[in-house]
Amino acid sequence: AKVKEVEFIKSSARARDCPVDDRPEFAILGRSNVGKSSLINSLVRRKEIALTSKKPGKTQLINHFLVNKSWYLVDLPGYGFAKAPEAAKMDWSSFTKGYFLNRSTLVGVLLLIDASVPPQKIDLDCANWLGRNKIPITFVFTKCDKMKVTKGKRPDENIRDFQEFIKQNYKQHPAWIMTSSVSGVGRDELLLHMSQLRNY
Ligand code: GTP
Ligand code: MG
Repeated sequence: AKVKEVEFIKSSARARDCPVDDRPEFAILGRSNVGKSSLINSLVRRKEIALTSKKPGKTQLINHFLVNKSWYLVDLPGYGFAKAPEAAKMDWSSFTKGYFLNRSTLVGVLLLIDASVPPQKIDLDCANWLGRNKIPITFVFTKCDKMKVTKGKRPDENIRDFQEFIKQNYKQHPAWIMTSSVSGVGRDELLLHMSQLRNY
């Protein structure tokens, strides 16, 4: 499951502009600022091949990264950014949903959940939408390094609460992995998990 090379292929504004290719891909999805672009950089060990920012709303297009010339990681715009202009929110649902519903090479979605905050309804809504559309998901908890919280709970407590929340509100029991793009924890486990999914 080693990453030997990675190449940025293209940014697409619409599903139909994505690369025409039969190689498998994984989409990285989650709330704005959850750490989608950072996770990609961590997985492929490249500092800023996917652009990140402290401010939510950085990634605005569908970005394809080809790994080892054999499979793709796809960076997507985040959802749930309350301050996003109405136009941008509309855009998310039309073009990102278009991507999910039309991308036949999609092996699965890594649904990123911020472990430094309590469970969010919008993440459950997203999981349910993907479930209804028969798109397999893996829960990937991010920011598990954040042990110092000013208020609220620690990441392990938030993760436990989220698991409980999912058990009560979601039919399937997806795999889940704890990660940190800062410490690299979970990186190898996630790469192995994706290599297993590709071979099914
Ligand atoms: P959008 O593109 O706006 O949807 O955001 P994104 O989900 O791609 O988030 P991004 O990777 O840009 O990271 C947002 C912020 O969170 C940045 O300041 C990152 O440095 C920080 N961050 C991301 N992952 C981690 C992590 O594992 N731990 C910590 N402590 N911070 C992280
Ligand atoms: Mg991003």
